[in-house]
Amino acid sequence: MTLSEFLASLDALAAEAPARIEAAADLDAWTEVRNALVGRQSGRLTDLLANLIQLPKEDRREGGIRANTVKVAIEEALEARRLALAAAAATGGPALDPTMPARERWRGAVHPVSLVIDEVVEIFRELGFTIALGPEAEHAWYNFGALNFPPDHPAMDLHDTLYVGDEQVLRTHTSPVQVRTLQQYPPPVRVLAPGNVYRSDPFDPSHAPMFSQIEGLVVDEGVSFADLKATLSHFARRFFGPTTKTRFRPSYFPFTEPSAEMDVQCGVCRGAGCGVCKQSGWVEILGSGMVHPAVLEAAGLDSEKYTGWAFGMGPARTAISRHGIPDIRILYDSDVRFLDQFAR
Ligand code: PHE
Repeated sequence: MTLSEFLASLDALAAEAPARIEAAADLDAWTEVRNALVGRQSGRLTDLLANLIQLPKEDRREGGIRANTVKVAIEEALEARRLALAAAAATGGPALDPTMPARERWRGAVHPVSLVIDEVVEIFRELGFTIALGPEAEHAWYNFGALNFPPDHPAMDLHDTLYVGDEQVLRTHTSPVQVRTLQQYPPPVRVLAPGNVYRSDPFDPSHAPMFSQIEGLVVDEGVSFADLKATLSHFARRFFGPTTKTRFRPSYFPFTEPSAEMDVQCGVCRGAGCGVCKQSGWVEILGSGMVHPAVLEAAGLDSEKYTGWAFGMGPARTAISRHGIPDIRILYDSDVRFLDQFAR
């Protein structure tokens, strides 16, 4: 045998070995393949090495080195395959496939209602507002009495309000935070109060017994309805876009006088009329008004000296009209397929 014949046999073995090793589907098959390739009795490499002695003396060194390289490569491939098969046998699963594409890392998403709250808070933060919080289980006086609800107001009915005690309610709006804030901090006051509120409503496509609100309150000397309109219009343009049209409609709340509801032009149809705005071209965004003097007095302020304005908005409604969400209950489902769409 010549050196080139010897090397050709070696190359042929090196070329076919990897596929044979990978093809071994279990440890028994692996043992067979190992014996066939490098077994002491009749392995292909063992047989080849026996030929080494027949090579011309000056060629034996090179032949030996090349044979050893092939031997090491085959033994490494055998060992890797054996480990993979052993791991698969231990876990009962398929052998590790290092060529499989990596699973995409799930990064989580911010809930669309939280996104609205974050954006609203940020816009008012730029205007100098700070955050105020109040309890969700609230004294009825803060929720109703201090806010100038007459004693027989239907909102206080068991039908509409969830009572947790004789005089304790789950707050039906974030407006009690107005009173708590004014009791605690002297004007000038500029606060935003996001939080959960509760109403004894059925859970249907447009109602939920628990939802979030964002309250805003400004109290100082000389604050006017012009400040309310200017600030809320600015907010609407920042939130919905610079060309957004707003309109104020007279409304009624016991704790504001005068009261106004603010509508923005429907973002889905740009005012033309669609399902989201019920063909009106406008979407109601918030309730607002000048803080009623009785509320300022209830909080211990001189209503001759101070005036203020307040608003309350529902970020869920805003998220719904922004994204055209057909059923409010989707916001409560924690369905990853829905929430994933809001990943930033
Ligand atoms: N609290 C009112 C509501 O829940 C909203 C509101 C807040 C209106 C502040 C005027 C001023 O509907």
